This record gives sequence, structure tokens and C-alpha cells, in this order.
Amino acid sequence: MLISDELKEKFEAAKRVCVLTGAGISAESGVPTFRGGGNVAVWKGMPFDQISSVRMVRENLAEVWEWFDYRRGFLKDCQPNAAHFALAEWQNKFDDFTLVTQNIDGLHAAAGSRDVIELHGNINRAYCTCCERRFDIRGAIPHTPENCDECFAPLRPDVVLFGEMLPIGAFEKAEKKARSCDLFFIVGTSALVYPAAGLAELAKYSGASLVEVNPEETPMSGFCDETIRGKAGEVLPLF
Ligand code: OAD
Repeated sequence: MLISDELKEKFEAAKRVCVLTGAGISAESGVPTFRGGGNVAVWKGMPFDQISSVRMVRENLAEVWEWFDYRRGFLKDCQPNAAHFALAEWQNKFDDFTLVTQNIDGLHAAAGSRDVIELHGNINRAYCTCCERRFDIRGAIPHTPENCDECFAPLRPDVVLFGEMLPIGAFEKAEKKARSCDLFFIVGTSALVYPAAGLAELAKYSGASLVEVNPEETPMSGFCDETIRGKAGEVLPLF
């Protein structure tokens, strides 16, 4: 795996670094991606963007929970991989380091990353569909409690579903960092879902060098200063 001398120099000289990760960074931990290799994830015959939608929460919350509890079930046996650990080290290397993830699996924090901006929420939290109180459901599979202990309304996963806004403040914070960084890495994401993917564009238009780490080409590849065709767990520890 070759990292160009030019990129190595940029990496060593960088003061402000931002990284956007997607499902691919957890692939080597055994977490399935949504897309890739020409395939799209399906649950009980339903494309994942149908079961992971705000409409399904309204129409069939039990089914939505079944899908998320299933994912929580296999995630409990998944550990962070070399890519997560490499990024946890990067946070101590630069004057300003920001890790933004689209992942809801909590593996960055498990590897030791601090202050991760989780754009799409976290699978181990739920919130009340009425009063929006948050609940930590880590370790409870299937999830408990099922209902809010204050207003008794059903809980739902604290994740961003198709048709919903991002958590208040999360994108704004990430956007500010993307606009001011020297180096922006886009790792393990198909770069198809906005506004997350737009952070890479913002960074590039604001003057940062843009680097992609992904075994496959994405719509962002042609826009990058460097593309490294490889697995995150093999590439990131090389820096
Ligand atoms: P995707 O599943 O769309 O894309 C995964 C990407 O990871 C693909 O481009 C793969 O080529 C790449 N990949 C696979 N293995 C890899 C490895 N070992 N190292 C590096 N890259 C690898 O995942 P996201 O881009 O994260 O949103 O998807 C974005 C959003 O779409 C998700 O957050 C989720 C989904 O809908 C919500 O649930 C709201």
C-alpha cells in the first residue's frame, strides 16, 4: 500500500485535520456495510432505506426495533479494528483534530476516540416518541425499557432515519471544522448520503487537501487530491 511522499509531508505538516468515516471503517470489525460491491443491504426483503425510515417508525415501530435489535445483537460481539485505533491516536497528534462519523455503532469511542461527532446518532440509545427523553439501552437485547418511564410512550432508536434531520448542532459543528481544516480524510463511505458527504466538498472548496480511503471508487473519488484504494484497517495505520 503506497502513500505518496507528498501526502506524508502534508500529514506531518498539518495542524487541523478532519476525518469523515462511514460504514466501511467498521467492515473489518465484521459490521456489514449498507452498500458496496454492487450490493445494497436488505432486511426481510425490504431495502434498508425502507426499514430505516421515519415512515416505518410511524407505521410499524415493532419492525423497526426488530431490525435495530438484530443489528445491536451482532454489534455486541464486534470490536474496534486497526483503523479505529489509528484514528484514536491521530487525536493526540494534531493541534486540532475532528472525527465525524456517519456510523451508529460506537466503535470509535470504544477505540478511545473522544468527542466524536455522531451525525446519525447511536444504536445504543433510544428516545421517547413523546417527551424525547434519552435512554441508554446498551447491553439490553432486545431493548428495554420499551416505554418511557415518565410519560409511558414507546421508545424509538436514537438514530437518524431516512426522512429526518440530523441531531441539532452536530452538522454545524462538523461544518465549521471542515471549513477550517488543512487536511480532510473521507474513509469507508460511499459518499452518497448528504449532508454528510457534503462536508468533504466544503473542506475542499475551503482549501483543504481531500484524501479518500476506500477499496472502491465513489462519486467523490474524482474530486479528491489523493485516493488510496485499500482497506481502512490496512491504510490508516501506515500514516
Ligand atoms: P455505505 O454502506 O454506503 O458505504 C460503505 C463504503 O465502505 C463503500 O464505499 C465501500 O466500498 C467501503 N468499504 C468497504 N469495506 C471497506 C474497508 N475495509 N475499508 C474502507 N472502506 C471500505 O456506508 P456509508 O457511506 O456510511 O445512514 O452510508 C452512509 C449512510 O447511509 C449511513 O450512515 C446510513 C446509510 O443509510 C443512516 O442510517 C441514516
